[in-house]
Amino acid sequence: MECSGKVTPQLMMAVGTAVIGSLQFGYNTGVINAPQIIIENFYNETWHSRFSEDISQTTLTALWSLSVAIFSVGGMLGSFSVGLFVNRFGRKNSMLMANVLAFIAAAFMGFSKLACSFEMLIIGRFIIGLYSGLSTGFVPLYVEEISPTSLRGALGTLHQLGVVIGILLAQVLGIEGVMGNSTLWPVLLSITLLPAVLQCILLPLCPESPRYLLINCNEESKARSILVKLRGTDEVSEDMHEMKEESQQMMREKKVTILELFRSPSYRQPIFVAIMLQLSQQLSGINAVFYYSTGIFHRAGVSQPVYATIGAGLVNVAFTVVSLFVVERMGRRPLHLIGLMGMAISAVFLTVAMALLDHFSWMSYISIVAIFSFVAFFEIGPGPIPWFIVAELFSQGPRPAAIAVAGFSNWSANFMVGMGFQYVELLCGPYVFIIFTVLLLGFFVFTYFKVPETKGRTFDEISAGFRQSAGHGADKYSAPEEFNTLRGEDPDL
Ligand SMILES: *[C@@H]1O[C@H](CO)[C@@H](O)[C@H](O)[C@H]1NC(C)=O
Repeated sequence: MECSGKVTPQLMMAVGTAVIGSLQFGYNTGVINAPQIIIENFYNETWHSRFSEDISQTTLTALWSLSVAIFSVGGMLGSFSVGLFVNRFGRKNSMLMANVLAFIAAAFMGFSKLACSFEMLIIGRFIIGLYSGLSTGFVPLYVEEISPTSLRGALGTLHQLGVVIGILLAQVLGIEGVMGNSTLWPVLLSITLLPAVLQCILLPLCPESPRYLLINCNEESKARSILVKLRGTDEVSEDMHEMKEESQQMMREKKVTILELFRSPSYRQPIFVAIMLQLSQQLSGINAVFYYSTGIFHRAGVSQPVYATIGAGLVNVAFTVVSLFVVERMGRRPLHLIGLMGMAISAVFLTVAMALLDHFSWMSYISIVAIFSFVAFFEIGPGPIPWFIVAELFSQGPRPAAIAVAGFSNWSANFMVGMGFQYVELLCGPYVFIIFTVLLLGFFVFTYFKVPETKGRTFDEISAGFRQSAGHGADKYSAPEEFNTLRGEDPDL
């Protein structure tokens, strides 16, 4: 038996070091949730000391929404720059360099209180967003390229796991008795420094991606010797052969630009599907929960909102693990549909609970259960699947451009929810989640009629399905699983 699927210490070390970047993304997504009221007080005090008047509710809402959402503007710019870095500096050095951003961001956020400047906090959030956008491109790419084919799916999911564990960690450290208080919140925000230091120490001990060395640098002997270490065997000719094949295929297939993606009739429908799936992920309202759940629980009459938020984080981690096991078995379409419908129903329950709170105080428990199941259904489908599908809808040539477009749609929608949620909530009160319900049902209908199953199908079969415009035909098992994370090509702008 070939033993190419071995988990060697070198491989574990490299994967473990890389997913520190995923953890950072999750941490900074979740970190501003619990201490919202405390940091808003700081904004209020700062405003008062500068202008000798209390901050108005409108200004405070605007400043806080901006502090939350500017993270996604950074993320968008970062995700667009991934290609520039990975092909010029290599995968390992790109990850190393990105940590400079984490250091700068930590300094801005950590010293904002001392400097009495909420501007510094906002700038810090933007820079850590840049870092996160880069990381979410670097990590899956590196992990996929150093993993043996048989372990690629399993190790690739560690990125998503790192993200949700990061969110949970932020929620736990955000407890008032830990760091979520008026003295320690700057530490809570700037502690993102520690994983960055750790990654800077460990990365130099990790190998560069052999695929980068072979395909981008043409350094065959270096690539081979790294593969020998990663696989723990001298028999690496099969891996080398596979990479060379892939490189030849890349040369055969012309690279497609973003513009061509929208012009060419054969790409127009799949790119539309890819964009809608990204939107279905973000406009489901999930980040309303991850950015603002403590406030939501507070208004829903929950006595310990921070602990309910941590509960949501635990549910999130648990169901991410569940989805890792089911996603390869059940296919993408059914899971995405189940997830969207489950989220829509949970949102209805949440709305009812919040609307009836004045009449029945036990409604606060219903709202906890509703948010937990909202998060659980998210991780079943709309969380992981939109990323799977983009890579599966497009072959090598158009894939980098498609991934760039998908990333852009995702972060834009993320920004809209982060920026707009508090305003819409002011307008709609307890009925705010009805908006997400309507959107979720819309995405359900779209997915039902337009999204093809991609599991176990080749690109040719999928695009033939698009040509017939009957996206959800027979569920065939004729081809081996395509691998399903980011590829490393330069997004052509
Ligand atoms: C700002 O602080 C003052 C004094 O503590 C308080 O009365 C006021 O309600 C606060 N403003 C807002 C918008 O929270």
